[in-house]
Amino acid sequence: MGKIMLINGPNLNMLGKREPDHYGSKTLLDIEKEVAILASSLGHELECIQSNHEGVIIDQIHKSGSSGFGGIILNPGAFTHYSYAIRDAISSINTPVIEVHLSNVHARESFRHTSVTAAVTKGQIVGLGDYGYQLALLALDRIIRGIH
Ligand code: DQA
Repeated sequence: MGKIMLINGPNLNMLGKREPDHYGSKTLLDIEKEVAILASSLGHELECIQSNHEGVIIDQIHKSGSSGFGGIILNPGAFTHYSYAIRDAISSINTPVIEVHLSNVHARESFRHTSVTAAVTKGQIVGLGDYGYQLALLALDRIIRGIH
């Protein structure tokens, strides 16, 4: 069907070791492999990137928008809560973006209750652990096939 970009933001390279009560015990590589298997079973090719740097994430969003990606799965990490630059990058492209958070941000500190990016995405999945990435992929698959 086409290419889908999976972008994970700051500190998500620490999954598996980082606060497992919030983020689970799988590593980012485990999660990426599982999402890639689901993607290929649906006929998509998954490209995965992780960066701790805001500008790199913005460049990847631009790249996905201009090089034929059918959709983006994005966990912006803590940038979710304050990066107007990532929000503007999402707004600058036509590619659908699904925002994912492993933890239920609404059940945590109040600064995590605000997402400055969610309003410019197609939708947001929170609190379902790594399964949220698979749900995001299923949603993008429907959007790409025009059955949403
Ligand atoms: C997170 C939630 C954010 O508040 C936090 O800063 C993260 C991970 C999540 O996936 O639950 O880094 O995006």
